[in-house]
Amino acid sequence: MSNTSVSSSAGIDRFFAGPGARADRWRDLVELAEAWSSDASKKGGFEAALAEMTATEEFHAYPGPQLLSALRDHAAKDATATAGLARRITRALLTRSYRQNPGDWDAQDDGEEVASTVVPPALGRTDAYRPYFEVLIVTGMPAARWPTIAAEWRRLRRPQDPFVYEPVLVGSFEDAFCATILNPDLAAVVIQEGFAFKSRHDAPILRSLLDTAERPAGAQASALKLAQILKRVRPELDLYLVSTGKVEETAGSAEANAVRRVFYAVEELLELHLAILEGVQDRQETPFFDNLKKYAQRPIGTFHALPIARGKSVFRSDWIRDMGEFYGPTLFLAESSATTGGLDSLLEPTGNIKRAQDKAARAFGADRAFFVTNGTSTSNKMAVQALVGPGDIVLVDRNCHKSHHYGMVLAGAQPLYVEAFPMTEYSMYGAVPLRTIKQALLSLKADGRLNRAKMLDLTNCTFDGHVYNTRRVMEECLAIKPDLIFLWDEAWFGFARFSPFLRPRTAMGAASDIEAWLQDPRSIEHYENQQAELGDNPSEETLLTTRLIPDPRKVKLRVYHTNSTHKSMSALRQGSILLVKDVEFHTVEAQFKEAVFTHASTSPNQQLIASLDVARRQMELEGYGLVHNAIEIALKIRQAVASHPLISKYFHVLGADKMVPAQYRQSGFTDYLDPSTNWATARLAMQVDEFCLDPTRMTLVCGTAGYDGTQFKGLLAQDYNIQINKTSRNSVLLQSNINNTRSDVAHLVRVLVEISREIDERLAKGGPNVRETFDARVKSLMTDVPDLPTFSHFHDAFRQDAGKRTNEGDIRSGFYAAYDESGCEYIRLTDAEIDRRLKDGPDLVSANFVIPYPPGFPIMVPGQVITQEAIDFMRKLDVKEIHGYEAAKGLKLVRAEALAQRTGVAPKRAA
Ligand SMILES: Cc1ncc(COP(=O)(O)O)c(C=O)c1O
Repeated sequence: MSNTSVSSSAGIDRFFAGPGARADRWRDLVELAEAWSSDASKKGGFEAALAEMTATEEFHAYPGPQLLSALRDHAAKDATATAGLARRITRALLTRSYRQNPGDWDAQDDGEEVASTVVPPALGRTDAYRPYFEVLIVTGMPAARWPTIAAEWRRLRRPQDPFVYEPVLVGSFEDAFCATILNPDLAAVVIQEGFAFKSRHDAPILRSLLDTAERPAGAQASALKLAQILKRVRPELDLYLVSTGKVEETAGSAEANAVRRVFYAVEELLELHLAILEGVQDRQETPFFDNLKKYAQRPIGTFHALPIARGKSVFRSDWIRDMGEFYGPTLFLAESSATTGGLDSLLEPTGNIKRAQDKAARAFGADRAFFVTNGTSTSNKMAVQALVGPGDIVLVDRNCHKSHHYGMVLAGAQPLYVEAFPMTEYSMYGAVPLRTIKQALLSLKADGRLNRAKMLDLTNCTFDGHVYNTRRVMEECLAIKPDLIFLWDEAWFGFARFSPFLRPRTAMGAASDIEAWLQDPRSIEHYENQQAELGDNPSEETLLTTRLIPDPRKVKLRVYHTNSTHKSMSALRQGSILLVKDVEFHTVEAQFKEAVFTHASTSPNQQLIASLDVARRQMELEGYGLVHNAIEIALKIRQAVASHPLISKYFHVLGADKMVPAQYRQSGFTDYLDPSTNWATARLAMQVDEFCLDPTRMTLVCGTAGYDGTQFKGLLAQDYNIQINKTSRNSVLLQSNINNTRSDVAHLVRVLVEISREIDERLAKGGPNVRETFDARVKSLMTDVPDLPTFSHFHDAFRQDAGKRTNEGDIRSGFYAAYDESGCEYIRLTDAEIDRRLKDGPDLVSANFVIPYPPGFPIMVPGQVITQEAIDFMRKLDVKEIHGYEAAKGLKLVRAEALAQRTGVAPKRAA
């Protein structure tokens, strides 16, 4: 291998050229080889494709240098042999058989098991299946020595090793960076001091992702610097430094924090090998699940409640044995209500649940993690109850999940609703603009009530995929209120931790960036410079339009995150995690325990806890590749819908430009499908834009095909076995996750083609009437959309200690007003009385939450004054499921007399 620059490495720069794109390139290569075998003039096409792949293939262990060079040798003379080898490599890659089958590494293999291989036998020395990973070795050794170095690493393998790994060698800082991004199989990196900075490959865009500040001055690159950067890209990787210098100094430096261990160059390679295995073992260990497995195998007599434990009541029964057969005996052997015998208590964990939670905290970048077995609905209520109390003001997105609203009712806190930007066209909301949030804080300040504002509670990302600029939101809010608590509901976004692209936009990703900034001595200077510019008494408008910098000496960083691990990772339904990064946690720890005691079941499900433990293990070991794949699948779906001539006639997926208004896309980013999009433009958008779109959440507009969201959801489920859950008036939400494969994309595309064809034929054969009906239906779905109602205000009866400029209210009293039946009345939505009261009073005041599905946000909350807007919206809604509203009875309202009793003001009556 030469050290000269290899150009034209477009593959490296391609945006989200993940595992799927790599498989496609190999499939294309096979096709080109086959084309060349039947037509000699096509040799050039194959050669060019192989040359283009070389750069990226060097970052993977398989097929590796020997097989690639065999492929090139074949390509010099024999088209048929070339096609054969390309086919074998591709098959091994697609089936992942190379991880266990040594024959896949042999250029001579004819499909049979082979005894001797070109590459020393890498795998298969033990009968048992051993998980496989790859280790990146960054070295200054000349490339000609790499095969020998790789062979030395392989010789370290021992039959008793729990895992098997293959080394991947690179010779520069830039190549190490690219390999870390492009190779999802890496689990560890060994950095040997003394390597070059510049890559042999030409990847200007990926290179630009390395901030200028991170570039070393000379040609030699710093190993510690590289370690820091790689840790930022993939924090789950174990990094090892092999130093030839003063290891003691290196190991003691603050910069070495990113590194798991520092070795002295001349030390035994075996130690390094063992350290690598131990590091992976640490991530693989699932303290609770491992114990549960042991527990299930022990012959235990149970004298506690839970007859199904051990399964005897099930398997001995003539009547319910089918449940046992359906779930299998292990489920019952692993059931227990005990917290002893190797198990632990979820309510007061001190043993393996505690250790499992600590590992989850590490994996998600938090200080603490709490497992929750009743979904994020419960995590949210726990967080709200623990962090705020009666009279505290919480700035909260009115459009958030109902658990937050109910949390405020329980806590007695006063919600100050902040409005998300509306997307009326699609009957959905976006996210809350920062200006709105700052305005609310500044208004509270002007009213002298900022001290009562305890928390900002937002959903990130929203159901439809709007992602906040979490860092900016927190920094600017902290500039106004330095001890504000942040609760980020990341029910849908837990997976984002494992994508370097999305991580900075997560609560914990942003919190650790802010933490690093707070520790940087330059932060005080930044703050003071801005203060000098703002002067003594900046106007509210100036504060609203300036990107505010908080005072690092005053900031108390208090960040909470909840995620439905079951929604985006491999946890069983209801598995949820609450993460904490709060410098003041000691002040709320007791309250936190109370909240856990209030909400957690005293009989938590063991399987759920185990699945949270396992989900964490998976994400730490393969989350990076899985998330990459989920994003890639989403981009494939987006592409397929946009480019298919028939599908695109009736359907489209909303791009970032449609989901996020231009004023919130400061970088000018348009969409992931835009031809000008690459890693650099996407990253810039992630850094600067106020809102970004989570690419895995795809709003498919079906109104243009004549279907409303609910109808289309039903059609997909009944006729095509495709399940989705969220709909709007004219759209459905498709989501990709770590579970999806390219076959799922293929199925979806086929179904959309079939539905489009059916519409096409119906319109072609139906004549003008059918066409007219169709056009009218599309028009009604796409243009005749109801305005989205904003939150009006709480009635004065529930605002007795409220400020002048803000709309918070006592939702708890509003909620309990409904318990007094005699103080409530019902009026049907269609009743003219509603219109009369809207016009002449007295106010219509909701006695409960009214939440239509879709869209799933409360149109009314307890104590809210109902407006014409809300009534119009409800009257236009054509959904059947409205929580808190019974059509036969009507809207439940607090009677004017009951309100008057609270305010002491007689109700205004119609003349
Ligand atoms: C934003 C948000 N938060 C919380 C929840 C509740 O999560 P879980 O279903 O895990 O209880 C949901 C459910 O859809 C949600 O959309």
